[in-house]
Amino acid sequence: MRIVLKIGGSLVFPEKIDVELVKNVSKQIISLSKNHEFLIVVGGGKIAREYIGALKSIGKDDTFLDYIGMEVAKLNASLFMGALGENAPVEISNDFKHALTTLNLGKIPLLGGTHPGHTTDAVSSMLSEFVGADLFLRFTNVDGVYDKDPRKYQDAKKLSKITHEKLLEIVEGTKAEAGVNTVIDPLAAKILKRSNIKTIVCGKEELSNIKSVIEGKHKGTEIF
Ligand code: UTP
Repeated sequence: MRIVLKIGGSLVFPEKIDVELVKNVSKQIISLSKNHEFLIVVGGGKIAREYIGALKSIGKDDTFLDYIGMEVAKLNASLFMGALGENAPVEISNDFKHALTTLNLGKIPLLGGTHPGHTTDAVSSMLSEFVGADLFLRFTNVDGVYDKDPRKYQDAKKLSKITHEKLLEIVEGTKAEAGVNTVIDPLAAKILKRSNIKTIVCGKEELSNIKSVIEGKHKGTEIF
């Protein structure tokens, strides 16, 4: 299978860089690459939001802030360059064509942000579409898709399987501004729907067994 793997910035950099997580994920990806092709997208997380918040308070516009978020995501993605060893690319891909060329050269493409105005979820969905991925795997600090925001509502229910239409319904009305943190970027939800890309959303714990998640054994949400 060709798989786009998105790892939230909040997972690689919760309070400080989680080197063990980076090493563990890389080890799994190298081993799973015998049977699958991977492209990895990493988010900006807390550090991106720190920079965005600071610059916003000084009066910078959203597009400028987006560029900062993109750079932080790329910095987070570069953490995987060491641990992927000889499978690592020479540089982070700034666009999808570069990522596909990198994959065709037998390396594992790494991406952060690509364009202002969206998140790395959108990057992942467009990349999935562009490379014809069979699966988009998304790991963040929320362990699935809920019927409402689990950080605000205690009675929020995790959904184990939903359609792309249902996901769009849930994310509709989400604010589009730099650094905004939602279940999934609405643009990503639209792209995943139009290309009918099978998607699995899981939490940090399941990042320790990516093989099981690929095989459908997980506690997250499958979107089809
Ligand atoms: P992320 O996609 O990393 O958001 O982009 P996030 O919510 O922090 O994701 P997690 O927590 O890592 O999963 C951070 C910010 O960078 C800008 C946006 O402002 C986004 O909110 N960005 C990122 C872009 O403008 N374009 C991109 O391609 C990527």
